[in-house]
Amino acid sequence: MPFPNDFMWGGAIAANQSEGGFCSGGALDSVADHFVAGDLKTPRYFTHTIDENKYYPSHIGIDFFHHYKEDIAMFAQMGFKTLRLSISWSRIFPHGDDESPNEEGIQYYLSVFKELKKYNIEPLVTISHYDIPYHLAEKYGGWKSRKLINFYVKYCDVLFHAYKDYVRYWLTFNEINVLSNGYGDIMAAGILPQEDTAMFMPSATLSERFQALHHQFLASAKAVRLAHEVNSENKVGCMIASTVVYPFSCHPKDIVAAQEKMNLSNFLCGDVQCRGYYPDYVKTYFRKNDIEIKTEKEDEKILKEGTVDFYSFSYYMSSCISTQQDAKSSAGNMSEGVSNPYLETSDWGWQIDPDGLYYYLNEVYNRYQIPVMIVENGLGAIDQIVDGQIHDSYRIDYLRKHIYAMDKAIDNGVDLMGYTPWGCIDLVSLSTGEMKKRYGFIYVDRNNDGTGSLKRIKKDSFNWYKKVIETNGEDLD
Ligand code: BG6
Repeated sequence: MPFPNDFMWGGAIAANQSEGGFCSGGALDSVADHFVAGDLKTPRYFTHTIDENKYYPSHIGIDFFHHYKEDIAMFAQMGFKTLRLSISWSRIFPHGDDESPNEEGIQYYLSVFKELKKYNIEPLVTISHYDIPYHLAEKYGGWKSRKLINFYVKYCDVLFHAYKDYVRYWLTFNEINVLSNGYGDIMAAGILPQEDTAMFMPSATLSERFQALHHQFLASAKAVRLAHEVNSENKVGCMIASTVVYPFSCHPKDIVAAQEKMNLSNFLCGDVQCRGYYPDYVKTYFRKNDIEIKTEKEDEKILKEGTVDFYSFSYYMSSCISTQQDAKSSAGNMSEGVSNPYLETSDWGWQIDPDGLYYYLNEVYNRYQIPVMIVENGLGAIDQIVDGQIHDSYRIDYLRKHIYAMDKAIDNGVDLMGYTPWGCIDLVSLSTGEMKKRYGFIYVDRNNDGTGSLKRIKKDSFNWYKKVIETNGEDLD
């Protein structure tokens, strides 16, 4: 049985989708707090001012802010070895550029980490998960500005010192490649549009976007060095939204298109963060698209000295690319492509593909030869409560197939550190802002419109995952 004894089984959540506690405990608003709810057909909107008559799901989330003890106790019951969670930057530095940090915010996360320690659950902390202090976006133009590097590093410095005895595993930026994919101008770079607009709409030029990404690369590299200086046991990873792209046909043009898409959407960020320099294919892409970014003399050295210790990624689905005009399109997790006739889709149209996970694990491990971790995976689905119970066999089925794929990859030599399925407790969907798109082992009584008691209920998948962890992946039935 391939899963190593120290395999990090667990789950993943993020502050902006679960925490709530909006503007309390000394915190201020982040860009994420300016997105109203949408659904599959209605895009989420960004609004410059918070409009009392609109519904912003992040303001309450699932109120993890007040429920964390109860939730962590339930994670412990499942036997979690690790919990991936993110820190909200504006809880620590409310404006982002403050002189000193907000002590109340520091204490809040300390209490969370102490609670995790009580159950021997190792925190895996995302430092920035689509959660930029609003003030930094408004005043500096978000990550377009080089100034953000120092603000970010100062924030990291506070975290690394304050949580030195509690946290060893860190991720610098969630899905950093959402910028090279072109979906993250507002939410990941904090580049605000002129007018209120749909969340995924571009608000930057290509040069501005890649400039912002360059600044994040530098900030990440500096954070890696700092983490190692503060505690040599710290391990820092990158976090990439995996973009598995298959050529739709064996037409050589489709093969080349798939390669180009994988390079730009996906490998560019991994290459910079794992190898410490920009790959040549990006230089060509920049040249062909008139992209110019400003760099400084020390940048090469910073990138070189700040390579990550492990490669982490989210994986939900795969897509295809075609150079033929008549191919039917499909979309999901901030990527667009052509639909694959061999795959089924979720209720939100995301193509379910466990073999793609196996393929991707081999691909990235062979490319970087450093430990790999899957820090997001799962099925967003509608759950029904029947006599107080939730029979989510569809979720178990999805996860089981993906764990088999992991098993096979480990057997093939991939050094896989752990697995933290996304939304281990139901939380707000990032792309739609809905609650009914649920991923959890734990149901949260909260509806799309913000009604509901916030009561937690175990789903069938809760006991199933408990058994998976107990048997170290041996019993998947
Ligand atoms: C990833 C993000 O892209 O996908 C998460 O890191 C997000 O924040 C997850 O929640 C699932 O996407 P969605 O839109 O179903 O919530």
